[in-house]
Amino acid sequence: MGASVAILRLPGLIDAHVHLREPGGEAKEDMTSGSAAALAGGVTLVLDMPNTTPPVVDGAMLARKQRLARQKALCDIGFYLGATGSNADEAASLAGQAVGLKIYLDQTYGPLRIQDLAALLAHFRAWPATRPIAVHAEGLMMAVAIGLARSFGRRLHLCHVSRAAEIALIRAAKESGAALTCEVTPHHLFLSQADARRLGPYGSMRPPLATAADVAALWANLEAVDCIATDHAPHTRAEKEGDSPPPGVPGLETMLPLLLTAVAEGRLTLERLVALTCIAPRRIFGLPDQPDTWVEVDPDARYTLSDEGLHTRCGWTPFAGMRVQGRVRRVILRGQTAFEDGQVRVRPGVGQVVGLRTRQC
Ligand code: NCD
Ligand code: ZN
Ligand code: ZN
Ligand code: ZN
Repeated sequence: MGASVAILRLPGLIDAHVHLREPGGEAKEDMTSGSAAALAGGVTLVLDMPNTTPPVVDGAMLARKQRLARQKALCDIGFYLGATGSNADEAASLAGQAVGLKIYLDQTYGPLRIQDLAALLAHFRAWPATRPIAVHAEGLMMAVAIGLARSFGRRLHLCHVSRAAEIALIRAAKESGAALTCEVTPHHLFLSQADARRLGPYGSMRPPLATAADVAALWANLEAVDCIATDHAPHTRAEKEGDSPPPGVPGLETMLPLLLTAVAEGRLTLERLVALTCIAPRRIFGLPDQPDTWVEVDPDARYTLSDEGLHTRCGWTPFAGMRVQGRVRRVILRGQTAFEDGQVRVRPGVGQVVGLRTRQC
């Protein structure tokens, strides 16, 4: 670390796409280990995906997740509701407590996927227009999702955009007035098919790593990208080295160092970094302000990302071996030092739940 230097202060990052895995996947991650990884990465608010076991598709499961978060979270959390073939009305009735509705249009990890047009129509009709519908929709399915959203006047958020053709479609749709937002992951910005070959199962995720030309297209069209979200999707080493490795990679602890490195290299401005990782997600999902909350980084610290010392329970990162510049030194959450020099400094339960109906006491 060395005797430092100018410390840079950023607002707490918001990660609009994480899988904290609780309940049902605690061997991969739980709310405490996942929110520790968030703090270590300068992230103070995460939006958690519904593909847990069981999935979050009704009021009882949403309440259970909120209770778990109140007991175990080290940072603030908002929850997505998952869409099924039969829960359109119930999901819509819970919209005020969720950050968005998540629809899986492609096969990915977990049981949630809708392939039936009537079921999709029911969700696009019932879900309130004031909140986003977030979709896992690759390639042609992205065009399907945009068409549905436009037909029913719903706000659409496109998860993990990864291909040149997808970002071209998004550009065109936005230019023609679609109420559309999208996110890109750090792994699709900093890794490509060449890394996938090197990483084997540790480089496998949905959507898969793309070509160098796709990666270049994402960077070249960054102004059409609304936010950067990790799709933090931890799986154990045993699962990744087993017979059918599940798709997904962790990302909470490495996003900010990777982006600060891009800033140091002149590929991104600091102002744009803050827009992509804080201002835009707060606006898109209508998230509450987090008073007295910030991150202190040493922008000069140079080091190599590694599997050692991570807070995510899975204990590995697809970015191991990459040289970066910029280290999280301290995270302040509502006036309290939550993380400092590699250590979590707060107790599980300090995290607040976005959209919780009952008073948090
Ligand atoms: C995610 C997971 O493991 O939950 N995996 C992934 O490869 N991205 C599911 C998802 O976000 O599609
Ligand atoms: Zn997905
Ligand atoms: Zn995901
Ligand atoms: Zn209280």
